[in-house]
Amino acid sequence: MDADASGDGTRERERSGGGASTAAGVFADGGRPEWYRDAVVYSLDVKTFRDSDGDGWGDVRGVIDRLDYLDDLGVDCLWLRPFYPSPLRDNGYDVADYRDVDDRLGSLDDFDALVDELDERGMRLITDLVLNHTSIDHEWFQRAREDPESEYHDYYLWTSHVEEAYHTENIFPEFEDGVWSYDETAGKHYFHQFYWHQPDLNVANPAVQEELFSIAEFWLDRGVDGFRIDAAHPMILPKGHDAHRLEDPQGLFRELKRRVRAVNDEAVLLAEADDEPDRLDFYFADGEGFDALFNFVGNSHVTYGIGVEDVWPLYRMFEVLPEPDPDGHAWWANFLRNHDEWNLLKLPHEALEHAREEFRQGGDGRDSWIFGRGHRLRLADLYDGDHDRIAMAHSLLLSLPGTPIVNSGDEIGMHADLDLPERQAVRTPMRWDGSEPNAGFSEADPGDLVIPVDGTGWPGVYQADVASQRGVEGSLFERVADAVRARRDSPAVSRGEFSIVHTDPTEVWAHRFDREGRALLCVHNFSGEPREVVVGFDVDPADAERVLGDADYRVADGGVTASLDGCGYLWLRGERR
Ligand code: NOJ
Repeated sequence: MDADASGDGTRERERSGGGASTAAGVFADGGRPEWYRDAVVYSLDVKTFRDSDGDGWGDVRGVIDRLDYLDDLGVDCLWLRPFYPSPLRDNGYDVADYRDVDDRLGSLDDFDALVDELDERGMRLITDLVLNHTSIDHEWFQRAREDPESEYHDYYLWTSHVEEAYHTENIFPEFEDGVWSYDETAGKHYFHQFYWHQPDLNVANPAVQEELFSIAEFWLDRGVDGFRIDAAHPMILPKGHDAHRLEDPQGLFRELKRRVRAVNDEAVLLAEADDEPDRLDFYFADGEGFDALFNFVGNSHVTYGIGVEDVWPLYRMFEVLPEPDPDGHAWWANFLRNHDEWNLLKLPHEALEHAREEFRQGGDGRDSWIFGRGHRLRLADLYDGDHDRIAMAHSLLLSLPGTPIVNSGDEIGMHADLDLPERQAVRTPMRWDGSEPNAGFSEADPGDLVIPVDGTGWPGVYQADVASQRGVEGSLFERVADAVRARRDSPAVSRGEFSIVHTDPTEVWAHRFDREGRALLCVHNFSGEPREVVVGFDVDPADAERVLGDADYRVADGGVTASLDGCGYLWLRGERR
């Protein structure tokens, strides 16, 4: 479709049939919906965002109630983490029914109301799709374990000879010994790469594939604009007794995309594929696979570089990643933190070791280090609650090539609560105001909350909340909102030609985008101290325009001299000479 046709934020509610998306036509013209490349995504968990009915659980109505807040922030796409019926042993990534809303969080009617509200505001919606595994509570697994003759038995991977079976390390190593657990009812072991209660689906089974496609169609018919595909890498790893691999994983991606686009020709597939950098291209399948991949390399390198005040990790990131290309198929979903551990595995070994100790927090038996690979800390913890640094990090995030994802709560500098188990530490409810006892999240008794509101421990730590920042000039929230607006006002970031601009101080990072004779220059000071930099900028001084940041600057002689405060940043644009 025409790149700009979707730029006005409107979209159709009725999409079934998807006109141009015939099997042959889906990819014929490069057929890529552009909207996701211009979008600013906000990731939230319904159950911890806002409780509208006072039962202690955030709910879909609560999200609807707070859309004005998201409008103020300026984001234009929501990514909802799993809200499906679930025993919540893995925060909802253990799905018991793919076609419903957990009744503690609302109903399908509420979901439809949310889609309508988002439509009215020109906002998009992406939901999480967990294709690698189900909960043991899912009806498929119940039937599979009860009857080996049932068609559902082959939805999963079993062995009666576990000693001879394929073994590999579990993804949650300190919680699980391996990838096989015994099921009393079936009298066999089943395969699971994640927790024991998340049996892997046998995705090589065509019947399973068909189920997964039709689940995607179900949500597209309800109006979602795309999916975050959970665990896309484990999905294609060897599975089961014989370490069986999908014969043609790209064929599966292609077929998923074909089915999805046949319902909604603007739908996007965003994959959580935390694979090695030289294997990432595979997931794009030459433009016929996933539209974008979460940038795990970027996440470890950018967040670490800002934390240690050095830009070398950014140089390395751009060296090892396939190039983001406005005309090509490789595209990143960038993020500073997410709802899991801050995974450092993509850093070089020495930097990983350094990050493990440098950013470690805890004591009294609490430790932020988890799974042997990351910290269960939020951005505000990594940067010692320094709002200047958090704001600068968001400015950089929003200026990098790729689609930026803001992690709910980071825009106000919420902290982790290490008293909570596992990754719950970084998933405490949104703090809307400073009120006791639930910070505006819920009217329920604190003991009834789905996850406790953080606000107790941490003496001396500023407890962020929305009310004290929204509309307050210079607050972290307003600075992040300014950066979101700057990004939405700068299509060059998603459409322009990216290049790194070399600068002298090792704490200052500069990059630019060129598009249609104009340049956009973005400069970020990782140091906490002021830095003056001179950077090449071939723009007519009279035409140079400030897009973001309050640094003093002077454009002259083909360059710009910028005086950046500690953690200062500056975006400038203008017509090239
Ligand atoms: C990735 C999700 O982000 C994480 O929270 C979950 O535990 C695993 N996938 C398993 O679904």
